[in-house]
Amino acid sequence: MGPEAWRGTGAGRRAGEPGVAGRTSTPARRWSRRRPGLAIRPPSHFRRRSGRPGAAGWRRVAERQRFAAGCSSHAAAARLTVRADTPRHGFRLLPAPARHHFHFPFCLCRLAGEGFVTMTEAVGTRPKRILVTGGTGLVGKAIEKVVADGGGRPDEEWIFVSSKDADLTSAVETKALFEKHKPTHVIHLAAMVGGLFKNIRYNLDFWRRNVHINDNVLHSAYECGAQKVVSCLSTCIFPDKTTYPIDETMIHNGPPHSSNFGYSYAKRMIDIQNRAYFEQHGCRFTAVIPTNVFGPHDNFNIEDGHVLPGLIHKVYLAKQTGSALTVWGTGKPRRQFIYSLDLARLFLWVLREYDEVEPIILSVGEEDEVSIREAAETIAEAMDFKGELVFDMTKSDGQFKKTASNSKLRRYLPGFQFTPFRQAVKETCTWFTTNYTSARK
Ligand SMILES: NC(=O)c1ccc[n+]([C@@H]2O[C@H](COP(=O)([O-])OP(=O)(O)OC[C@H]3O[C@@H](n4cnc5c(N)ncnc54)[C@H](OP(=O)(O)O)[C@@H]3O)[C@@H](O)[C@H]2O)c1
Repeated sequence: MGPEAWRGTGAGRRAGEPGVAGRTSTPARRWSRRRPGLAIRPPSHFRRRSGRPGAAGWRRVAERQRFAAGCSSHAAAARLTVRADTPRHGFRLLPAPARHHFHFPFCLCRLAGEGFVTMTEAVGTRPKRILVTGGTGLVGKAIEKVVADGGGRPDEEWIFVSSKDADLTSAVETKALFEKHKPTHVIHLAAMVGGLFKNIRYNLDFWRRNVHINDNVLHSAYECGAQKVVSCLSTCIFPDKTTYPIDETMIHNGPPHSSNFGYSYAKRMIDIQNRAYFEQHGCRFTAVIPTNVFGPHDNFNIEDGHVLPGLIHKVYLAKQTGSALTVWGTGKPRRQFIYSLDLARLFLWVLREYDEVEPIILSVGEEDEVSIREAAETIAEAMDFKGELVFDMTKSDGQFKKTASNSKLRRYLPGFQFTPFRQAVKETCTWFTTNYTSARK
């Protein structure tokens, strides 16, 4: 963002102001003189062609100062002096991902008398209160474990909530929950979730419940001034007809698979809302896109659960009765599975470090994709099941594959180590066998 870009075309100049050729003061200087307490300039795409911001631009400036101060009060935010860095002012805009013209957290800012820090550091000076919706589910429990096992930080307070704390399909209950806890950060996991066969039966319910939950959570987070929300999409919401591997730019490129269109469109709308909250209010709401998740505390229900926990439960029962293991479908579809504890560690990184609004795929590599048959064989081995595997071809296979690229994740975290599939399956089977009576099934 150089001085030339800032200068504008001269159109819309007020009477008495010098034109481009005879300019004695820049729009930036005139800005600062008129509004000495507000020394942040809006990014180029918020400006009118005149070079001055419109009303919407000013609103965003105010929102951004609010965000930078990490508080919900505009008055408190005024303590913070923020400058968009330009060569003209002797500052430099730090590198930002190409799709963000103005990547706010990377701007330098100055807390009164404390020298320059990045926005992220400025916000990080305040204690965080992190609300996790869906905190009793597969992913929520994994985050709770990782935090309890040393992943949490002293300046973080973690609050895990479930439907017992509030029914998030209700706007009133959601608002009350947020007013009670006043989170500075939100990990939004709560959703109506299910496997292929539950999705086929209840597309309408998946759409309605998830749309209500997501809208209530995002808007309550906005209203209570939360600095950041990380929501959860899924690779199964991508277009059915697509090229592989899929990446983060392809979410909206075509209709999802017909089996789960209700869930898929509801999840896609989170991405739309995140972009809109950023455009209109400067909110840092983002989303992650995991592949199939599995681990302790999963839903092991055979009819309604996902494929891997369903197979674990079937193997458990087959061992009890000495019968064959029946796998639904041909066993040929391919999937990338991510262990819930790996996903939880990545969630913590996203919450603390990932500053884009655009979502990020959290997945093992393409080379780690396995067929349903291979997954069933791995479970059989982990549970020491010696019986026969039978494939019930009358059941649907669902989408044949959804191979996702984790290259964006790898650019950020090249050294992240995923738990080997075999080990993660073994740990999950052991957890299920040990907790059989209390497990969801
Ligand atoms: N599992 C996967 O393979 C997978 C893959 C990709 C993405 N995801 C996404 O990851 C997130 C977490 O999934 P998960 O597998 O952990 O789900 P899960 O085990 O089924 O847990 C769902 C959580 O959401 C809560 N919840 C559901 N409806 C609610 C409502 N109306 N009000 C308040 N809370 C409600 C549940 O609370 P209760 O315990 O009180 O019912 C539970 O804590 C979801 O957004 C899901 O779409 C999952």
